[in-house]
Amino acid sequence: MIKQLDLQHFEINQLLDAIYFRYGYDFRDYARASLERKILHRVNLSKLQNISEMSQKILHDPSFFNLFLKDMSVTVTEMFRDPYVFKKLEKTVFLQLKTYSRVNIWHVGCATGEEAYSMAILLHENDLLKHTRIYATDYNNHSLDIAKKGIYHQDKIAEYSQNYIHAGGKSKLSDYYTVQDQFVTFNPSLKEHITFANHNLMKDQVFAQMHLILCRNVLIYFNATLQNRVLKLFTESLVHRGFLVLGDKESLEFNNEKESFENIAKKERIYQHKANL
Ligand SMILES: C[S@@+](CC[C@H](N)C(=O)[O-])C[C@H]1O[C@@H](n2cnc3c(N)ncnc32)[C@H](O)[C@@H]1O
Repeated sequence: MIKQLDLQHFEINQLLDAIYFRYGYDFRDYARASLERKILHRVNLSKLQNISEMSQKILHDPSFFNLFLKDMSVTVTEMFRDPYVFKKLEKTVFLQLKTYSRVNIWHVGCATGEEAYSMAILLHENDLLKHTRIYATDYNNHSLDIAKKGIYHQDKIAEYSQNYIHAGGKSKLSDYYTVQDQFVTFNPSLKEHITFANHNLMKDQVFAQMHLILCRNVLIYFNATLQNRVLKLFTESLVHRGFLVLGDKESLEFNNEKESFENIAKKERIYQHKANL
């Protein structure tokens, strides 16, 4: 007799195979506990009998699959999140960026774009923006649409202004946006330097040579296999002695790529690719 929990695992495996087979999205290497929680939550919300019913619905109803994609993508973010990271970048990494004539920066898993606009502001204040291209990517088209607009609700701005000051901002955050009807729109001069694009870490490849990659609060959703794949991708994308920044709960500690990087700021999770010998 099969146990309830084993049955659930079996159904989840079937669901993930069905999604891969039908839509090409491979969630089989996502961290299992949070994946299961999200699936069960959707089963309850949609009043389905069980996970197998969800598989059937996903196979035959692309709009239900889009709902699932939204469930899977946690887009919580903020401007100048962990301000001490931005401050450290300015004091260390930016010094090296200033030695290049052109700079490419990649924000991986940019969600609704706040992190990329924060970076553009800081680069501007360090006279680096004019020769920098920021690539900000995510696999969630809905959040990319918000990111491309650069329009955010005003109720977050007080907190963002505090973060900006703690990140070492040299002016006022309000210099970078206009306000209308409870919404702020970030200046087009920032957006000109940012390319927002769809990129799926489950399957897509390197698309440019990067001087700095920020992938914060994304790897926590992946298992070791997918983390290894993604970090290999970053190693291949970085220029000689390029930089990588992870989130505060992420590290290279148990990763295959660990030996390729030097940890140059522990608290801030900033790594630099070692010289190839
Ligand atoms: C919690 S947000 C992090 C946002 C921002 N980096 C930050 O730290 O504030 C995680 C983002 O990773 C994205 N993500 C998850 N899996 C992905 C994948 N396979 N490919 C690309 N982006 C992914 C999600 O859609 C979500 O927008």
